[in-house]
Amino acid sequence: MDGVNQSNFLVFRLFEWYNAEVAKVKRIIVANWKMNPSSVKEAGKLFSDVVKAIPSLKNTEVVICPPFLYLEQLRKISRKIILGAQDVSSEECGAFTGDVSAEMLFNMGAKYVITGHSERRARGEGNSDVNKKIKSALSVGLVPILCVGESARDESHGYFNLVKTQLEECLNGIQKASISNIIIAYEPVWAISSTVNRQDAIPADCREMVIFIRKIISDKIGVQTKMPKILYGGSVNDKDVEGFLKDGGVDGVLVGRASLDAEKFSNIIKVCEALNK
Ligand code: 13P
Repeated sequence: MDGVNQSNFLVFRLFEWYNAEVAKVKRIIVANWKMNPSSVKEAGKLFSDVVKAIPSLKNTEVVICPPFLYLEQLRKISRKIILGAQDVSSEECGAFTGDVSAEMLFNMGAKYVITGHSERRARGEGNSDVNKKIKSALSVGLVPILCVGESARDESHGYFNLVKTQLEECLNGIQKASISNIIIAYEPVWAISSTVNRQDAIPADCREMVIFIRKIISDKIGVQTKMPKILYGGSVNDKDVEGFLKDGGVDGVLVGRASLDAEKFSNIIKVCEALNK
């Protein structure tokens, strides 16, 4: 075996080993409701419909990230689903009009918070802002879900460097142990449902980036430290979720549009739960 084939073989074995390890721990399904639905009543109905439709879960953790102002109502409905937020202030407290602090979210019952989503990056948020937000979330015990992903794929594979820079700058100055507990979501912008002329990503697109992300992270925190969970997001639905979970090398998925349909979202959860049996 020559050097290149040997290293491909090793990466492949590492991937197989990792998949076997993933099967032993809980996978995680996260819903990002974005700016939907338009009333607390509809939010309560959607949440309750999902709660009713899913079985008791042994192998899957389900998180819903609604708009901030529905958190309080939703936490009263059920503890079967964990709550998260879609953004957090980089500041602790004080004169920051419109911001919602990490402590407020924590006190409202959120456990997770999405940071660095491409829809926020498109409105001017940079890696250093995301870095501050992650630190702010960690300081109160919230688990940040760090979104990374390229807008387009180029033939010279420059998109790997873009994701590398996102990871390095967003995780700058964060302790190894904290990085272990962060969740990383790979969301290629070109596959997200709201992207004009979007394209479907396939599990192999996801897998190559996930292997790359694991390499960047293991260079940063070392092989002895627990690897953070990695999710895939980009038009995931109840038909293709199995492929991403089985062949995409991820520990779960981050779902946008399909999470607004209780039947589709609960089917996604059921597929995931059945896979781990
Ligand atoms: P869609 O599933 O609608 O493509 O959204 C993905 C996403 O942006 C989740 O954060």
